Amino acid sequence: RHESNNNTMSNEQRVAIITGAANGIGLATAQAFADAGYHVVAWDLAEAAGAELVRSIADAGKAASFASVDVSDAAAVERAAEAVIAEHGRIDVLVNNAGILRDGQLVKVKGGELVGKMGADQFDAVIAVNLKGVFTCTQAVAPHMIARKYGRIINASSVVGLYGNFGQTNYVAAKAGVIGMTKVWARELGRYGVTVNAIAPGFIATDMVKQMPAHVLEGMVAHTPVGRIGDPEDIARAYLFLADPGSGFISGTVLSVDGGMVV
Ligand code: NAI
Repeated sequence: RHESNNNTMSNEQRVAIITGAANGIGLATAQAFADAGYHVVAWDLAEAAGAELVRSIADAGKAASFASVDVSDAAAVERAAEAVIAEHGRIDVLVNNAGILRDGQLVKVKGGELVGKMGADQFDAVIAVNLKGVFTCTQAVAPHMIARKYGRIINASSVVGLYGNFGQTNYVAAKAGVIGMTKVWARELGRYGVTVNAIAPGFIATDMVKQMPAHVLEGMVAHTPVGRIGDPEDIARAYLFLADPGSGFISGTVLSVDGGMVV
């Protein structure tokens, strides 16, 4: 499925692919990039929310498209990247933002008995989307950036990718791996005018975090010098900064956007 509107579209307009753009941080990012004048291409699984995103950006007189793409499906990602090139002839920015959680402890013991552990399926699911999905999207998009000697790739890591987190072996492995890939690609792609960076958000008020118990949220705020959890817009601004043409001397870095969180 593909939805598009043609507002303010021209060959000069910069094109930004944002994965996981139908909800949360990705949604705020899509809106911020559209406001900043980019043609936004949203890749997500959530079709109704994706169509709604295109409509709301169109209502604001800006341009966006949505394609139903599973970032863990290499053939689908390849087709979607080709479709963007066929329609726009350029990809300036790739924000690898899509991500999932499948939490569980490595082992869980109660009264001396093993009562649970993280399943291999949970491990594989998170690696497939949060780590391999970033590899797949970047591999599909980077050749088009190299061809034009310009690109900005920004990957979603996390504060937990730097510090670890209870119950998140799979997620932390993926988010730490994203930092490693960022450093490799910064080396490989820099000579082609392509920068590659990661951001490490702290706890951000998306649906996921809002569902946490009040005492857990209060604990997080207590560890955050600025005294609040983040908004999706806080992360959107960081993505936009790293995507800027003027940020061309920043590459291979991890930008923490966490209110100064201390763990
Ligand atoms: P969210 O759950 O609100 O949105 C994620 C979006 O990704 C959804 O629209 C979902 O449909 C999409 N998605 C999931 N699997 C997909 C797939 N296989 N292919 C395409 N799209 C897929 O999540 P949120 O909170 O906005 O997170 C965005 C990114 O930021 C994620 O990478 C997350 O790990 C990261 N992050 C979030 C933090 C937070 O506190 N919310 C903290 C640190 C990092």
